[in-house]
Amino acid sequence: MAQDEVIMDKLVSLAKRRGFIFQSSEIYGGAGSVWDYGPLGIELKRNVKESWWSRMVLQREDVEGIDASILMHPRVWEASGHVEGFTDPLIECKACKLRFREDQLSESACGRKPSVGAGEDAQCELGAPRKFNLMFRTFMGPVETEGSVVYLRPETAQGSYVNFLNVQASARQKVPFGVAQIGKAFRNEITPGNFIFRTREFEQAEMQFFVEPGTDEEWFDVWLEDRLEWHRSLGVDPEKLRLHEHGPDELAHYAKKAVDIQYRFPFGWKELEGIHNRTDFDLGRHEEFSGKRMEYIDSGAGKRFLPFVVETAVGVDRTVLMLLADAYREEEVEGETRVVLSLAPRLAPLKAAVFPLVKKDGLPEIARGLVEELRRDAIPAFYDASGSIGRRYRRQDEAGTPWCITVDGQTNEDGSVTVRDRDTLEQIRVDASKLREWIRDQLAN
Ligand code: GAP
Repeated sequence: MAQDEVIMDKLVSLAKRRGFIFQSSEIYGGAGSVWDYGPLGIELKRNVKESWWSRMVLQREDVEGIDASILMHPRVWEASGHVEGFTDPLIECKACKLRFREDQLSESACGRKPSVGAGEDAQCELGAPRKFNLMFRTFMGPVETEGSVVYLRPETAQGSYVNFLNVQASARQKVPFGVAQIGKAFRNEITPGNFIFRTREFEQAEMQFFVEPGTDEEWFDVWLEDRLEWHRSLGVDPEKLRLHEHGPDELAHYAKKAVDIQYRFPFGWKELEGIHNRTDFDLGRHEEFSGKRMEYIDSGAGKRFLPFVVETAVGVDRTVLMLLADAYREEEVEGETRVVLSLAPRLAPLKAAVFPLVKKDGLPEIARGLVEELRRDAIPAFYDASGSIGRRYRRQDEAGTPWCITVDGQTNEDGSVTVRDRDTLEQIRVDASKLREWIRDQLAN
């Protein structure tokens, strides 16, 4: 098995074992390329989303947040071009009946040839490509007719476009300003895969920045640098981040320019986020299809115009996968292999685990009291009294918990506890009554 597959297998297995990510509907054999986040995974994902929201919305006066619906008026997707053009070239193998994306044939076909049930030497017998629309369709209301077709949104962006004037007027914003949201998107991908990298249901964190035409290129560069800086701030290896500018054949139907931020996953350099110059394409099309003016009126300057949009669009699940892949290490410690997730402490699902060294002398009560105190201050902490201290450390290393705190005999004498650092393995003593502040200080650094 290739090294990248080994690492991915280890990650998938760790994610399940430790409650980060489970296959959806596993007891029924799993659903096609959808995944469920478990107790640790949801905290990691929430921390990613909070980091994004804080940087993109809370820390800025020129970006407003919204939460638009997944189901929208079907004309939205005609206007956006998705009904017409959000397609992938689908190719079916006549021999094995498997389906591939024509543009990813080299990637996807290799592992699947020779075709199932077609004998050892069989070759794929590929049919002609046809356009396959990636949007999931359903019906609104009790009658299933063409007139009641609605789509599960394939991107969150359109919710921001149709609300552009609502947000601008209600928040009294002036162009340039942005509209941000985090939410689910759905794509009926032909070849999903690589765990949570390409799935059929996923979460996006997108921001549409509305600017005066002519200033779009400048703003594009500003946002590209800002977004790259956010990825670096998550603590991943900066050498594994790079930019890729789309050539004319790669550009989406709405984009004048697009640059991807890529990460070197175990399966190669892949897109994590796209920065797009969408010009006035979307607002213009909504104006045309809805018959409503979408212009921005700058009465002070006596101008009216259809803004251009610079979009930043990152996949939350891909970011989680990047963090897991980047943090995963196997190390030799005292003759044993330890698996550790070196997640940045502020992103780690649990911040601390508290252990009584022995189950007597009042140590479990002190340890439990510390966990309660930390949790009251919204610092996720875990109590563990089972197994040797070494085993308890290993369990927390795998979960990415930055600090393990041991309550021992000395605690009863001077009120101090041992704090062991996940990455350096260094141990220091901290006054138990100051533990909460100590952790808060570390998280602020
Ligand atoms: N609004 C623009 C837009 O949707 P995109 O490049 O198609 O652009 C943005 O998607 C981001 O969403 C991608 O960079 C990726 O991180 C994430 N994404 C797209 N399709 C995905 C899928 N099938 N599974 C997981 N994440 C996906």
